[in-house]
Amino acid sequence: MWTRIEKPLVIPADVRQVVSSLTDAGFESYIVGGAVRDSIRGVPVADFDVATQARPEEVEKIFSKVIEVGRSFGVMKVISEAGRPVEVATFRKDGDYADHRHPKSVQFSSVTEDASRRDFTVNALYYDVKTGQVLDEFGGLQDIKDKKIRAIGDPAKRFKEDSLRLIRAVRFAACFGFKIEDATQLAIQQSSTLIRKVSVERIRDELEKIFLGPNAKAAMIEIDQLKLLESVLPEVAAARIENRRAWDQTLRVLNYLPKVSEKAVDPQALPIPASIYWTWVLLPSMRLQAMDKREEAIRKVGARLRLSNEMIDQMVYFSRETAKFRDAFSMREATLLRWMRETDFPLLMQFHEVDAIAFDGNLSGLEFVRSIYPEAKRRFESKPLLTGDDLVKLGMNPGRQFTEILRAVEDLSLEGKLGTKEEALEYVLKQFVK
Ligand code: CTP
Repeated sequence: MWTRIEKPLVIPADVRQVVSSLTDAGFESYIVGGAVRDSIRGVPVADFDVATQARPEEVEKIFSKVIEVGRSFGVMKVISEAGRPVEVATFRKDGDYADHRHPKSVQFSSVTEDASRRDFTVNALYYDVKTGQVLDEFGGLQDIKDKKIRAIGDPAKRFKEDSLRLIRAVRFAACFGFKIEDATQLAIQQSSTLIRKVSVERIRDELEKIFLGPNAKAAMIEIDQLKLLESVLPEVAAARIENRRAWDQTLRVLNYLPKVSEKAVDPQALPIPASIYWTWVLLPSMRLQAMDKREEAIRKVGARLRLSNEMIDQMVYFSRETAKFRDAFSMREATLLRWMRETDFPLLMQFHEVDAIAFDGNLSGLEFVRSIYPEAKRRFESKPLLTGDDLVKLGMNPGRQFTEILRAVEDLSLEGKLGTKEEALEYVLKQFVK
């Protein structure tokens, strides 16, 4: 059903141009999917997708810059006049799905059939840039108004076709502040184990979007209630059975994450890598393990999630070092400064803030460390007062003792007890030269 909407959508001129080039050549074409949904919701749109009657070979004839994405499925990428990539996909009807993701075959078809193969009503809206009307076959406009995520047609069939949709439903609901409609919820529960057929990378990307969104805690509770937790985060599900506190801590972390995302908009703030998010979410479940087992457990889950080795090393670092903030007051000053000198220490401080809020609320160690950080940084970034050459000039013979002497000088300089080269030389002469 074609519906006129209250206000025409704001579509950038170069995207409009892509659509008009197709319609001028005689092919019915519309903006579709997330771009229409989000414009109607009144939020900024990053990616524009176009659905068209034109086949890939016709798309190639019309545009000078075309990249092939999935020719057999009718998916091409056109580079707009402004240099923006716009996905242009031929209307299609999917055949049987082979592997809970890819249809075995596709048949190019009409726009209404194209709408029927999509996942949720809010994603099956087509915008005609010429008339400003929206094709809404399944009540997606009303569902946006009612803040509902509803599968199109038979929900169970939709989830069987591409089982990532099980978690996409939760992600859309959490990110938009929508509710999953009852029949769709029931179908998710009944099909929940199908998610195991989906690649871990695709699940991980959805979970990361959930963590970055405004309702991460509610989403995690929903993942649990919809029986998806054991399949998507078995480590968290297992720890929860053993110890309820682990689960509560994870929820406290997730509850705090929106505040972190708000702060991340601050240009002064460090960009927060995914390794921090994953450690925040997972560490509460790993704390049940002894320290030496914990590292192994973190490595195992990092590998399962196919995170990079660099990210896994960071996760191990955060989970090992976060406990040390409690001891910061009693550490020897040089030890403290050496700890603070580690490359990822600024990230560790960010990690610890949320971890401590969720763990026991004790931020005193962090506040102390933060208060001395600027002065500490000045000291550990300053040049060493002495080098091996200086010791040779004092007439000493290079050897194992050099390391000991230079380290002692560095300790005192980190502690502010030696400030100049002269003082350092005097100290060495007094302590080490007979
Ligand atoms: N789609 C689908 N089933 C999927 C993935 C996508 O039916 N498993 C359809 C939906 O109509 C969706 C469109 O393809 O709107 C584009 O998908 P995608 O780019 O993944 O998501 P968006 O809806 O654009 O939303 P976002 O960019 O926020 O993920």
